[in-house]
Amino acid sequence: MKTLKPHRKIQGSLSLPGDKSISHRAALLALMCGEPVRTHNYSDGADCASSLKAVEALGCKVEQDGANTLLILPAETLTTETAKIDCGNSGTTARLLAGILSGLDITAEISGDESLSQRPMKRIVEPLRELGARFKSVADGESDKEPSSLPLAILGGAHGDIEYRMPVASAQVKSAILFAACAGGGQAAIIEDVRTRDHSERMLQHFGATIETQHPRVELKEDERDPRKKTRTVLDDWKLRIVVKGNGKLSGGDVDIPGDISTAAFFFAAAAIGKGEVTIENLGLNPTRTAFLDHLKAIGCEVHVENRVTISEEPRGTVTVKGGKLKGRKISGALAAQLIDEIPIVAVMACFAEGATLIRDVAELRVKECDRLEALIENLRLIGAKVGSVEEDGIVIEAKGEMQPADFVSHDDHRIAMALSIASLFLAGESTIDNAECVAVSCPRFYEMLDSIKH
Ligand code: S3P
Repeated sequence: MKTLKPHRKIQGSLSLPGDKSISHRAALLALMCGEPVRTHNYSDGADCASSLKAVEALGCKVEQDGANTLLILPAETLTTETAKIDCGNSGTTARLLAGILSGLDITAEISGDESLSQRPMKRIVEPLRELGARFKSVADGESDKEPSSLPLAILGGAHGDIEYRMPVASAQVKSAILFAACAGGGQAAIIEDVRTRDHSERMLQHFGATIETQHPRVELKEDERDPRKKTRTVLDDWKLRIVVKGNGKLSGGDVDIPGDISTAAFFFAAAAIGKGEVTIENLGLNPTRTAFLDHLKAIGCEVHVENRVTISEEPRGTVTVKGGKLKGRKISGALAAQLIDEIPIVAVMACFAEGATLIRDVAELRVKECDRLEALIENLRLIGAKVGSVEEDGIVIEAKGEMQPADFVSHDDHRIAMALSIASLFLAGESTIDNAECVAVSCPRFYEMLDSIKH
């Protein structure tokens, strides 16, 4: 139980640990690399430690190489015994690893904590089976059933090809398929109707894979009636197609990991609500991840970006956010998918804005570390906000006078705990939150960093 005191003046500069998604990929892809992977600024969160433990369990060595650098050394031969891998709370470890091991023909049993054991795995099992992978459920009494959740046994076999149109916007599913094809020597072509984070594509490119992101073909024809005009016809029925051709090997090399923009969102939100100013240097600015910065601008904040540079295929820069008078906004469709990890803090900001914030198309929030939609409705009602669910996949939030302190329920979900901790800075008294330590899943030094920008 942590006590959270109100605090209104927010100002300061921060430098954040490495992006969680990029860190996972650097560790897990080391399983396929011929040379060491040297990471700079690897995430210090428990989730990314699960990926490191997994590759160690399979035979790689992980060494500290200076203050903020890790050396992940390839295994001479990856383990041939059935490895038992506990992915903890980390869905990214479980899903991406399942893809790689299926292609490498390594048998393993992967499990997770109570929350991860309830999260859907059918979404990776189905496309990986299409590539040839075999799985077995290892839950009590279910050994012959097709697994739809952890624990599950991976039995290898993913050496075929696949053409797959993503039924749900998920970078984890996309990455599991891309990694399986890379490891298993097949070809995967993935169509994304809603674009998701592209760190896997960038890192595969960085490690020498044969990967291409295609855009639809366009035909320009002269207009018969007016030769000065051209008619434009799109020849394909998709917007983005990612094609990878695997051969089981990647090069490896250095990966410099920028600060995590999904963690930055909490500190920027504190500046936004408190009309303060926060600067974060070396922050990841991959365009598939920056929807939160656009959101801040759209609701009334100033956002300045400088020192833009791309290292290890990932853009980054120094970002300053200045808070202002916030207003509500409608979020749906592709925008909702791109903001998916930031919705908890977007919902908190909505409680301090003028007008309603309507968030639609976020059913995926129900299958994150907890049912984040329910957790938000429950907690934001406690502070006195007007909150309602919209059908099964949305939420509408409106401020109602001064927000009141509360005894928050984190549901052991790091992003719910961090979002409510930011809310508590602007309430009319002291609040509490249960199991605030769960922030360690992505940001163990969250409260220390937050203290450094409170004055
Ligand atoms: C992630 C993808 C997203 C995101 C998660 C990290 C990744 O999950 O919510 O925090 O690193 O690929 P989904 O693929 O389930 O949308």
